[in-house]
Amino acid sequence: MINLALLKRLRDFLSNKFGVFIDDEKLESIYKRKFLSIMNEFGYTDFNSFYKDIIFQRNSRLLERVIDVITVNETYFFREAYQFDTLVNYIIPELDKIRPKTESINILSAPCSTGEEVYSIAIYLMEEGNFIKKRDFLLLGIDIDKQAIEKAKVGLYSERSVHKLPKEIIDKYFIKKGNLYQIRDILRNAVNFKVVNVLDKYEMKRLGKFDVIFSRNMLIYFDEHNRKEAINNFYNILKTNGYLFLGHAEKVPDDFKLFKREKIGEAFVYRKV
Ligand SMILES: C[S@@+](CC[C@H](N)C(=O)[O-])C[C@H]1O[C@@H](n2cnc3c(N)ncnc32)[C@H](O)[C@@H]1O
Repeated sequence: MINLALLKRLRDFLSNKFGVFIDDEKLESIYKRKFLSIMNEFGYTDFNSFYKDIIFQRNSRLLERVIDVITVNETYFFREAYQFDTLVNYIIPELDKIRPKTESINILSAPCSTGEEVYSIAIYLMEEGNFIKKRDFLLLGIDIDKQAIEKAKVGLYSERSVHKLPKEIIDKYFIKKGNLYQIRDILRNAVNFKVVNVLDKYEMKRLGKFDVIFSRNMLIYFDEHNRKEAINNFYNILKTNGYLFLGHAEKVPDDFKLFKREKIGEAFVYRKV
């Protein structure tokens, strides 16, 4: 039996620490069952010790499993591709003019889930071709979900992940393995990955400074407080005149005046002024 008050306390802990917000209805209809199944998997018979081991972070494998279950990893190559068009056709040319040629242009995908977003950015840059000849680019994907990051590094994708890709792009950047698609080394070598919690400002600062941050389809799962924390962390690691891209259902709150919202090409972006 799961005590409802304790279940809610576990939910609040996970929400404060990792940002993922689960409402009461979903908690009882979906997540209760998911937690029971993890308890089973790890051999817990009472919810109290399961709860304590999570909140005191006594078992890192258990915590990883819980994060895996509460996060939504849905993603695919060339998702909302008009934003990548804006990146390579307007933003990179502008940054190329204002940044010293000796500096790399640094792009962060936070969260990157299983890697499709940041590999898509790499493909766009390679297809454009001019700027990567002129200067270095550093592409980094981060996510809190260790399993998703492991998958991103392996780079083996299903039909569903590549369904938006033109055939010539698939042929150029992937090797077909049965009914799966393995990224070629040219793509793998262009990107780095790391397990990071966007709400941890120290971990975030250690990543360095970025010219562009993509943060799509994560903030919608956060409550207002954590949404602001995450945006603040993005702001702190963006260079001046750097850009933040959000998912189409997400926005920087109006009272956050440090970003200027601009329409560039087909996309709305936030510039750090
Ligand atoms: C729906 S995916 C978005 C992937 C990609 N940006 C896209 O739009 O296709 C959401 C991701 O957010 C990650 N996530 C949730 N909370 C996080 C946190 N606090 N720090 C880092 N990543 C987090 C999840 O693990 C999940 O992989």
